[in-house]
Amino acid sequence: MTQFPKNFLWGGAIAANQAEGAYNVDGRGLVQTDVTTGGSVNSPRYTTYIDKDGKPGKYASMGHAGGHLPEGAKYAVLEDHYYPNHQAVDFYHRYKEDIKLFAEMGYSVFRLSISWARIFPNGDETEPNQAGLDFYRSVFEECRQYGIEPLVSIWHFDTPLALEQNYGGWKNRKLVDFYVKYAETIMKEYKDLVKYWLTFNEINNTTMFLDMMGGHGTDADYQEGYQVLHNQFVASAKTVRLGKTINPDFVFGNMICGITFYPATCDPADILAAERKWQSGIYYCGDVQVKGAYGTYAKKLWAEHNVELEITEEDLDDLKNGTVDIYTFSYYMSNNVTTHEITDKVAGNFSAGARNPYLTYSDWGWAHDATGLQYYLEKIYDRYQVPLMVVENGLGAFDTVEAGGSIHDDYRIDYHRAHIKAMSDAIANGVDLIAYTTWGCIDIVSAGTGEMRKRYGFIYVDMDDAGNGTLERTPKDSFYWYQKVIASNGQDLE
Ligand code: BG6
Repeated sequence: MTQFPKNFLWGGAIAANQAEGAYNVDGRGLVQTDVTTGGSVNSPRYTTYIDKDGKPGKYASMGHAGGHLPEGAKYAVLEDHYYPNHQAVDFYHRYKEDIKLFAEMGYSVFRLSISWARIFPNGDETEPNQAGLDFYRSVFEECRQYGIEPLVSIWHFDTPLALEQNYGGWKNRKLVDFYVKYAETIMKEYKDLVKYWLTFNEINNTTMFLDMMGGHGTDADYQEGYQVLHNQFVASAKTVRLGKTINPDFVFGNMICGITFYPATCDPADILAAERKWQSGIYYCGDVQVKGAYGTYAKKLWAEHNVELEITEEDLDDLKNGTVDIYTFSYYMSNNVTTHEITDKVAGNFSAGARNPYLTYSDWGWAHDATGLQYYLEKIYDRYQVPLMVVENGLGAFDTVEAGGSIHDDYRIDYHRAHIKAMSDAIANGVDLIAYTTWGCIDIVSAGTGEMRKRYGFIYVDMDDAGNGTLERTPKDSFYWYQKVIASNGQDLE
């Protein structure tokens, strides 16, 4: 018997820039992924630009070392490149069909993000774009029609590109006000349609990836990274405070990229090294957003990289009074940490550290570790004691379409079955877990690699990495399996 409470929310999750497409439709402004090419597990995605002399160029993006826009260059869509997010899976035009399929699976919750650049195309306008507001109203109404609760990420890696280009992005304090204005606009607009809001998707990536990507980060990178985080913490806290005045029933969550860190050996030095990863990678953001103040170890982390943050008294007050109600996170894998020389290293995108001999790995090098999810849930609940949501969890894998059109993705079913059991075990141990939204309820463009063939969905989308395909939707075996799981409230996992 599994242990899911009666009102447990079951569903799936997507993000605007990875699903919607329609990148230049109805007044939408550009975002970073619109100038980012596709990559693979071995090759990075590239961000494209025109330099100050008018020459096209590109740099490796998404956390790869050394990538930045040259002085005087402007982000640009170049003619001879393919940009997978431009069309993505065209959720913008097909949301009715997709939400109907989600309803058929039995969803009680659907996590999606609002594209800031659909609402304020350049980020700094005084008036919102009505077409953008209308689009999400229609999406939320469609969800409500099926009794599906929308769970809305206000930001999912998609700051309007004009704010990056003209203001230098989140290291600039001005972004706080632009974000809060955007958040206020959508919270007022949808106050009767949306109850659950997540302020920043995987907020901790900014500095965690500096640690994970082979330690390429310079002191200047950390200075910028920690200031970006501080500005986002303030924006998040101000949004929570404001939101509660718009509708006191709103429920706010943070959103953390949840990775379980293990010491690779029982050498006490490895135990401490793993604990440091929990602090810098996981607790750093959770402590500010849930407890309302920087953790005791924060000063040490800043000192290690000579970071001097700009923090005002008012900021501290905002952080204290703008804490979130629930802790939400993504979970895909665990990582091993060691102070010893690593002889067997994990190779993949966004995976790092020593290979764990007790685990198997995906084709992208991500460890399959359901027990790591249970560990994370129990550790985090014990630390914060607020309700938790797993708002992303899934397996990126190659799928094969059989001659008759069916897709037998038993590997994906196995992955989710194990993680659902792990959630149930954590609940049995006292964790207040209230929702599970699997990642990519439908195939969408991978954030890390820009691939379509790294598929997560329970619904197959006919689209390849070069943009060929009909975009037709087909339920996979996992679709019917998840339908049974939801109908039985997690009892029938076979
Ligand atoms: C999370 C992100 O990091 O992981 C998603 O919130 C992303 O946007 C997901 O798609 C899976 O990562 P990827 O790189 O396989 O798409």
